[in-house]
Amino acid sequence: MAPNLEPLFAQRTKLLKASDVRELLKYSQDPTVISFGGGLPNPEAFPLEDLKVVFEELLHEDNTPSLQYGPTPGDPLLKRALATMLAGRGIPANADQIIVTHGAQQALELFGRVFLDPGDIAMVTQPTYLGIFTAISVYEPDYHGVPTDDEGILTDVLEEELRALAMDHLRPKFLYVVPTFHNPTGVTMSLRRRRALVDLAAEYEVPIIEDDPYYDLRFEGDTIPPIASLDKEGWVIYLGSFSKILAPAFRIGFAHGPLDLVNKMALAKQGVDLFTNGFGQRVAERYLSLGLMKRHIPKIRKLYRHKRDVMTEALEESWPEGTSWTHPKGGMFLWATVDPAVDTRALLPKAAAKGVIYVAGHAFYAGEPEINHMRLNFSYSSDEAIRKGIPLLGSVLRGEGGESRLEEAVPK
Ligand SMILES: Cc1ncc(COP(=O)(O)O)c(C=O)c1O
Repeated sequence: MAPNLEPLFAQRTKLLKASDVRELLKYSQDPTVISFGGGLPNPEAFPLEDLKVVFEELLHEDNTPSLQYGPTPGDPLLKRALATMLAGRGIPANADQIIVTHGAQQALELFGRVFLDPGDIAMVTQPTYLGIFTAISVYEPDYHGVPTDDEGILTDVLEEELRALAMDHLRPKFLYVVPTFHNPTGVTMSLRRRRALVDLAAEYEVPIIEDDPYYDLRFEGDTIPPIASLDKEGWVIYLGSFSKILAPAFRIGFAHGPLDLVNKMALAKQGVDLFTNGFGQRVAERYLSLGLMKRHIPKIRKLYRHKRDVMTEALEESWPEGTSWTHPKGGMFLWATVDPAVDTRALLPKAAAKGVIYVAGHAFYAGEPEINHMRLNFSYSSDEAIRKGIPLLGSVLRGEGGESRLEEAVPK
């Protein structure tokens, strides 16, 4: 019999919870289930030929540093290449102010470590990327959710909240946002809201964490400058990732921010993993510096734009009256809204029984969730699976009474 270790575990482990996406794994192990759940890149988007070129170069005796221990803040060559990449996004970056992390996810966890004492205020949008909760909840923040609309965060509501907190001599430790092709909604924050955010950050002296893994995945419309590019006073901390533009398996992400923050994060990281996967860092550096990434990204955009179109066409053709969804101009997700009486989390086992899964919207809220949303990933599934899975979900919604409830509610 295995020993009972439960009494030995630290109190804080009670705060560790598997995310809804991890929970979905139990359904998605079945190869016959169509998954719109995970945020997975399409395997066709992996640049296999480019990787062969890069591996060939790196696995050469002149390149053994790529296999060696490296500095905690990151490979200097990669940090230089990243500073150039950020300059291309309009962010006046300095390589010394960059820390390379094991995915953007690790940067989120490090923010928790260096910023949060129990009870400190962490502001997030409603809804927000659920990985922020899995990263920082163990540090026991007091989450303050700020509502959003189709232009992103409601900056007037934020301003009221910041003013009220300041009156009580309270200052949030940070505000976390995903302004471009938001996970889970696919919405992109407008330029005027971005400008308003920068002003509020400076006025109330609250750092903004701008998490931007989907920056390069724009299918249409003009690029909207990152919030960090509008910031003159250094209140914006910028996060990026190679997971969606190279491959998540290398686990290469990065943060750019004030030097004292980056130094603190490096100290915290030392105790966790010493440094980020060195070979992966060199792969990312070569992918950038040889110009392979620039050449490859249009292929990903074209593929995902097509996937989004296949999904939205299937939704239009097959979903019941009264349902709606966002129309993202990039990224990997759209956000569907169903009859307010339908609880999408309760509906999930029924959908899984029919062979299709999604992430219920609940997981993306701090505090009380809205119950009638689903996050649908369009990047991963084949066209056939999308054309089959979306009508299946539509039929589950009808079976649940989505349409009939609405018919009852709306006078004829
Ligand atoms: C908004 C956001 N931040 C962070 C992450 C984590 O990315 P990474 O693979 O770089 O850890 C994701 C992954 O889906 C994401 O959507």
